[in-house]
Amino acid sequence: MVRGSSSRGSQKCRCLLLGLTVILILGAVVVFAAMIFTRRRDSPAELPQWKGRGSTPNLKEIMLGRCFTYIRMVNPELGKDCLKIWETFKNAFICKNPCNITEKDYQPVMELAAYPIPCNKTLLWSKTSELAHKYTKIQDNLLTLENMLLGYMADGLTWCGSPSSSEIDYQSCPRWDECANNPSSIYWKMASKIFAEAACGVVHAMLNGSISHAFVNSSIFGSVEIHHLNPKKVHLMKIWVMHDIIGGQSSDSCSGSSIKQLKSIVEGRNISFSCEDDHRSVQLIQCVAHPEEPACKICRN
Ligand SMILES: *[C@@H]1O[C@H](CO)[C@@H](O)[C@H](O)[C@H]1NC(C)=O
Ligand SMILES: *[C@@H]1O[C@H](CO)[C@@H](O)[C@H](O)[C@H]1NC(C)=O
Ligand SMILES: *[C@@H]1O[C@H](CO)[C@@H](O)[C@H](O)[C@H]1NC(C)=O
Ligand SMILES: *[C@@H]1O[C@H](CO)[C@@H](O)[C@H](O)[C@H]1NC(C)=O
Ligand SMILES: *[C@@H]1O[C@H](CO)[C@@H](O)[C@H](O)[C@H]1NC(C)=O
Repeated sequence: MVRGSSSRGSQKCRCLLLGLTVILILGAVVVFAAMIFTRRRDSPAELPQWKGRGSTPNLKEIMLGRCFTYIRMVNPELGKDCLKIWETFKNAFICKNPCNITEKDYQPVMELAAYPIPCNKTLLWSKTSELAHKYTKIQDNLLTLENMLLGYMADGLTWCGSPSSSEIDYQSCPRWDECANNPSSIYWKMASKIFAEAACGVVHAMLNGSISHAFVNSSIFGSVEIHHLNPKKVHLMKIWVMHDIIGGQSSDSCSGSSIKQLKSIVEGRNISFSCEDDHRSVQLIQCVAHPEEPACKICRN
């Protein structure tokens, strides 16, 4: 009999048992942690691959719904095939590395959805999205990219695929700072380029004078749109610099250096240039929300 043969012997034995138990428990914890860790690494579904938001849920339903709204109610003369546009759009990014999208991928859908825009109707915008679209909603002599089918369908949405699956990735998509050639950035760059190339006559642009630089050359407007206006068709660019009615310290204006930089780029491309601060018909829309502010009085002086 070992047990209780001597008191010192049984104490030694208990110490040994306790030590063994601790080692066993520690070992189990390590194995368990390792299992969880490797499992996480093996299945990308549990850890998002990209830092950006995943594709917008119900992407297909939203885009098809918007397309049908557009061709049936907004612009019924268009005669486009929404199902075909959706399939062609999806094929541009599905089963592909979302950091390696090219303009060539979108070429088919851009061609399918293309239609001409009448002269003098183009309105470009930068950092004035909300105001520009409030304006075009009531003033239908100007159109932004988001008032055209391609912009209308994709406005505010996120989408991407993955090279290892034919599914849309709803978990995560690359953020613009993770890779420049992601599905949304390439789409908007290309749609903006085509929109600018199609412009003719007078082109308007609404810029934001309540931020430090109304014109930023790295924006889509500054890096894509102004460089794709065709000087043979566009003879004048009219800039409207708008300021917030409330708390809108005029940070920049037509006389600021950023607009001077824009002027020299536009004139360098043989397009005439004009600039106006707080164009009244746009300001009146801002005034609907702030009728008592000094800028909104009928007699402003
Ligand atoms: C990116 O796409 C091009 C053409 O589609 C292909 O040749 C290239 O190997 C791709 N690169 C990566 C890193 O996937
Ligand atoms: C565009 O505007 C210019 C200058 O304001 C005008 O001469 C021209 O007739 C307009 N074109 C159209 C199609 O309205
Ligand atoms: C200017 O930009 C600021 C910051 O993005 C925004 O809050 C404001 O509404 C913009 N102003 C106009 C007139 O669009
Ligand atoms: C933007 O302007 C800065 C100088 O103000 C210049 O160094 C830079 O090359 C310009 N970037 C582009 C894309 O034109
Ligand atoms: C601008 O127009 C002038 C004369 O009309 C021409 O000589 C010049 O080459 C043009 N410049 C550009 C950049 O197209």
